[in-house]
Amino acid sequence: MSPDTPSVATGDAAEAEAPTRIAPATLEELVERAEIVICCGSGGVGKTTSAAVLALRAAQQGRRAVVVTIDPARRLADALGLDGIGNTATRIEGPWAGELSAVMLDTKSTFDSVVARYAGDDEQAERILSNRFYRNISGALSGTQEYMAMEKLYELQADDAFDVVVVDTPPSRHALDFLDAPRNLTRFLDHRLYRVLTAPTRGVMKAVNAAAVSFVRSVSKIVGAEVFDDAIAFFQAFEGMEEGFRERADAVLQLLDDPRTAFVLVASPRRDTVAEAHYFADRLGEADIPVAALIVNKVHPSFSDQLPEALRERSRTLAGGDLGGLYRNLADFALIAAREDEHLDGLAEQVAPAPVVRVPYLRSDVHDLDGLTEIADHLFGAPPS
Ligand SMILES: Nc1ncnc2c1ncn2[C@@H]1O[C@H](COP(=O)(O)OP(=O)(O)O)[C@@H](O)[C@H]1O
Ligand SMILES: [Mg+2]
Repeated sequence: MSPDTPSVATGDAAEAEAPTRIAPATLEELVERAEIVICCGSGGVGKTTSAAVLALRAAQQGRRAVVVTIDPARRLADALGLDGIGNTATRIEGPWAGELSAVMLDTKSTFDSVVARYAGDDEQAERILSNRFYRNISGALSGTQEYMAMEKLYELQADDAFDVVVVDTPPSRHALDFLDAPRNLTRFLDHRLYRVLTAPTRGVMKAVNAAAVSFVRSVSKIVGAEVFDDAIAFFQAFEGMEEGFRERADAVLQLLDDPRTAFVLVASPRRDTVAEAHYFADRLGEADIPVAALIVNKVHPSFSDQLPEALRERSRTLAGGDLGGLYRNLADFALIAAREDEHLDGLAEQVAPAPVVRVPYLRSDVHDLDGLTEIADHLFGAPPS
């Protein structure tokens, strides 16, 4: 027997154990194959818009898509012509072969349903939900929004009604926080203060150290000093639920690491957002997660094949007349486009071989289905007929 034979078999087995992550050659293929698409990037670059367009395309392809958005400005709800999008999936009717639904993440009600799920019984759930401390922190605790976005993602991907879940990431200053969200929650549960507060005997309170005291003080400052007792009651009511939370956090992390999950990086060609995109790609790289595609949104068209300097020279020659002014404009546009190209070069290289797709700066905001369709045409070409 050739010595190669067993090694081939081993190779197959290894492949079956760890399926390789999808590495789509085009955005079209990504939308066809991915089961979870996560749009990330800094604020204002077009994440919410992109997430909606990717879900729309999946629906056009005949898939059952749901987009989860975290859009306090409700721009997407407006764009989709829907007032009624809420924390549960709402179907959007339209001329597509598949199905399109949307969810507007409501951090507070997602947190409430998480509590209800993990509570031992209705009585425990009620004790937590009606607790003043809980009502104050459930919306305000840092990382809650990121964690709840992941929670929603988990819930939707487990739902047989959908083939693909597209997630818009929170408009947090640190667009990456959501990657840490499940871990942060686990860390919170491991926190000494938490363990001290949930300890059955009050005597243990003597053990509260300086760090814990300062934590409580800063919490008290936000929610009012009198809630300290409420806080203790909350943590005590929480007892027994950590395990459920922890398991769920692990499951969410696994989901982010799943080969059928695709991260789409959205950037605009400005220096600062490109810098943040680099950082984001780095962070994903540290977690061994490749960027599946890069969308560069709001690109200025150059309008001309000529170099900016040549156009500038021409505008000088023609100075004084209308044509001179036009050439000056053209030179300005060409210069902006050239600068944008410079900013983007390294980024495309960093995410290679991920496909890079450019979307021009449209004349107006994307505020309706026509706007989304226009973006889709730039991302994918004309829809399948
Ligand atoms: N290609 C584009 N051309 C013009 N306006 C755009 C384009 N893409 C997005 N916008 C607009 O830019 C704003 C920010 O987009 P949004 O998708 O909400 O970004 P993010 O979710 O990253 O903060 C919105 O008003 C949107 O309509
Ligand atoms: Mg957004």
